[in-house]
Amino acid sequence: MRTVFWENDSLHLIDQRRLPGSLEIVVCRTHAEVAEAIRTMTVRGAPAIGAAAAFGLALAALESRARDAAGLRADLEAAARLLKETRPTAVNLAWAVDRVLESVFVRLSVSKSVDDLRLSVLAEAQRIADEDVETNRRMAGHGAALLEDGDTVIHHCNTGALATVDWGTALGVIRMAHEQGKRIHVLVDETRPRLQGARLTAWELEQYGIPYEIITDNMAGHFLRTGQAQKVLFGADRIAANGDVANKIGTYMLALAAHDNGAPVYSVAPTSTIDFSLAHGGLIPIEERAQDEVLAIQFGGERVAPAGARARNPAFDVTPARLITAIVTEHGIVRPPFDVSLIKVAGKVNR
Ligand code: MRU
Repeated sequence: MRTVFWENDSLHLIDQRRLPGSLEIVVCRTHAEVAEAIRTMTVRGAPAIGAAAAFGLALAALESRARDAAGLRADLEAAARLLKETRPTAVNLAWAVDRVLESVFVRLSVSKSVDDLRLSVLAEAQRIADEDVETNRRMAGHGAALLEDGDTVIHHCNTGALATVDWGTALGVIRMAHEQGKRIHVLVDETRPRLQGARLTAWELEQYGIPYEIITDNMAGHFLRTGQAQKVLFGADRIAANGDVANKIGTYMLALAAHDNGAPVYSVAPTSTIDFSLAHGGLIPIEERAQDEVLAIQFGGERVAPAGARARNPAFDVTPARLITAIVTEHGIVRPPFDVSLIKVAGKVNR
């Protein structure tokens, strides 16, 4: 089953708030419901929210009562604004929304009836979803070459099938290496505060039969320093033109610890995650989420923080390019200097 799929004129999502306790499907019938599902992290992970938002536009097209292309375009642009506002850091979301609008209104609108345009919105959303699966498999094929039989790797957040339409980014690389017969052991960062590692990555690794142990985020440095982990893998929510990587909060500290111990650091992401409009990671907008995600934690059945405690909750941080050994894309493995190699891999200049 895909994480994000279209059936009976509605968008179906695996409810990631319920896992690993139960596998439930949420059905969205309006674009506003899709926006809410993204905001509440019912669906999460950069490529997954991109595909979900694209299908959100398909729902907006069905909802629209417009009788001409201009009216449909105005309705879809309003829906696009709502969808894009939900989560600001992962560029895949804006990328997918813009791609749908461009494909329908810039390349098609002259020749098509308004009903055909509605269908074109859905067709483009479906293409984005299908391509994501293919892209992830290609990345996995490239990235698996970086893993050796017997490696123990530290993995941050959830980058698996659940974070994408299917297969995953960094976890897809681990899965491919495992399927190739390499013995890979995964130390799963639990990933405070939403615990995507302990809940979702561990659940996926159980399905794939890949050996793993959960560690708290603050244990990673110890395992790297003592040589019990040799490599670090994570995804990306946005990569600036110079190779700075925005990813789940905690990635920066993990990369620092790896760098200090000479362990390679690999970010695995499709080229749709690269934002060439931003020169460096300091320009990437960082989502701040509700304090309660940090304060809700319990110990011995009691809330840990005293009444009245306040918290900070940036959902992402930026790892400078100098700490990244390589970025794995669907077109191959990219190494420093990233300001040159990323442009080449995205096909922006002739080789
Ligand atoms: O807040 P989330 O759970 O959406 O954050 C997800 C991540 O940070 C992933 O590592 C990232 O999207 C890349 S993996 C597909």
